[in-house]
Amino acid sequence: MAERVLVTGAAGFIGSHLVDALLARGDRVLGVDNFDDFYDPAIKRANIAGARCSSAFTMAEADVRDPAALGAAMDEIEPDVVVHMAARAGVRPSIAAPALYADVNVRGTAALLDAARARGISRVVVASSSSVYGNASRVPFSEADAAISPVSPYAATKRAAELLCETFAGLEPRLRIVSLRFFTVYGPRQRPDLAIHKFAALISSGRPIPVYGDGSSSRDYTYVTDTVQGVLGAIERTRDPAVRHEVYNLGESQTTTLRELIALLEDALGQKATIDRLPPQAGDVSCTYADISRARDTLGYAPAVPIRDGIPRFVAWFRDTAGRGAAALR
Ligand SMILES: NC(=O)c1ccc[n+]([C@@H]2O[C@H](COP(=O)([O-])OP(=O)(O)OC[C@H]3O[C@@H](n4cnc5c(N)ncnc54)[C@H](O)[C@@H]3O)[C@@H](O)[C@H]2O)c1
Repeated sequence: MAERVLVTGAAGFIGSHLVDALLARGDRVLGVDNFDDFYDPAIKRANIAGARCSSAFTMAEADVRDPAALGAAMDEIEPDVVVHMAARAGVRPSIAAPALYADVNVRGTAALLDAARARGISRVVVASSSSVYGNASRVPFSEADAAISPVSPYAATKRAAELLCETFAGLEPRLRIVSLRFFTVYGPRQRPDLAIHKFAALISSGRPIPVYGDGSSSRDYTYVTDTVQGVLGAIERTRDPAVRHEVYNLGESQTTTLRELIALLEDALGQKATIDRLPPQAGDVSCTYADISRARDTLGYAPAVPIRDGIPRFVAWFRDTAGRGAAALR
C-alpha cells in the first residue's frame, strides 16, 4: 500500500537512496534537508536529482531544528510515517565541534519527535549508529548491551537521540518508534569523508592514504541497498500498534580489517596504495560487529551484498562519477 513518507536528511547519502526506494515502490515522499556544508552541498543536490524528476517527490529546504519549518513540511504531506536521517555525521569531526553535533543530533531529534507528537503522527523511524556501543568488549554487539560508554561526542549524541525516542514513546502512547543502528554504510553516493570513498579518491590519484593504527582495526561494512532494505522493514514494523520504541542493529554481521579493506580497494581499482601510517585516532573504536538476529527475525532484514561484491560496485560508481569525490577532497 502506497504511503506518504517524510524523510529528513533526504539529500544525504543514505537518505537519497531511501527516497529512491520509496518512490520506486509508489510512495509519495517529502524530503527535508538543510544542505549543510559538512560536505559539498552540490553533491547532495546531485544525489536527489533523479528523485526530483518524479511528481511524487517534493523537497523542502529546511532545518529540522526549526519547528515552524518542520511543522510546515509535516502539514504539507501529512505523513503516515517519518524517517529521521538528518544529522551531523562523522566521528572525528565531532571532537572538534561537540556543541554543534549535540545541537543538530539531539535538539534536532527532540524537535522532530515533538512536532510528530503535536500532529498525531504515530510512526517514526530514526537513524542511529553502531558507534553507540563504544569499545564494547563483547562481540558481536547486541541490542541488549547497555551501550553506556560512547567514545566520541557523535556517538553520545546518537545514543542521546535514542533515549529521547524511548522517552517520547513513554510520554505519547500513540507513538511507535524504531531506532536503527547502522554499521558503516558504503556504496554509491557514499559521503566523501568516509574511509572507502576517501581512500578510493587518494589511491586513484596516486596520493598516500592516512592509516591510523596498524591496520588491524575492523568494521562491519554494510552495503547501502542492504541498509535501505532494513529501513523499509522498520517502516513496515511501525504499522504494528504493539510497537513502542524498538532498537535494531543493521550490519552485515561480517568484519573486515582495515588492511583487508585496502587490499579489496587496490584490487578493484587496479592500483597499489601508498600508506601514510599514523597513530590511532581519539574517538575511533577498534572493532564494530553487529549481531543482526533481532533485525532478521522481526524486520525480515536479509543483507545480501558481502564486501567482496560491494567494493567493486562502489568502485564502478566512483569511476562513473569521474572522481567527483576526489574533486570534493581537494
Ligand atoms: N553513513 C554511515 O556509515 C552511517 C553510520 C551510522 C549512522 N549513520 C546515520 O545515518 C544518517 C544518514 O547518514 P549519511 O551518511 O547519509 O550522512 P549525510 O551527511 O550524507 O546525510 C545527512 C543529511 O542530513 C542533512 N542535515 C544535516 N543537518 C540537518 C538539519 N539540521 N536539518 C536538516 N537536514 C540536515 C545534511 O545536509 C545531509 O544531507 C545520519 O543520521 C547518520 O548519523 C550513518
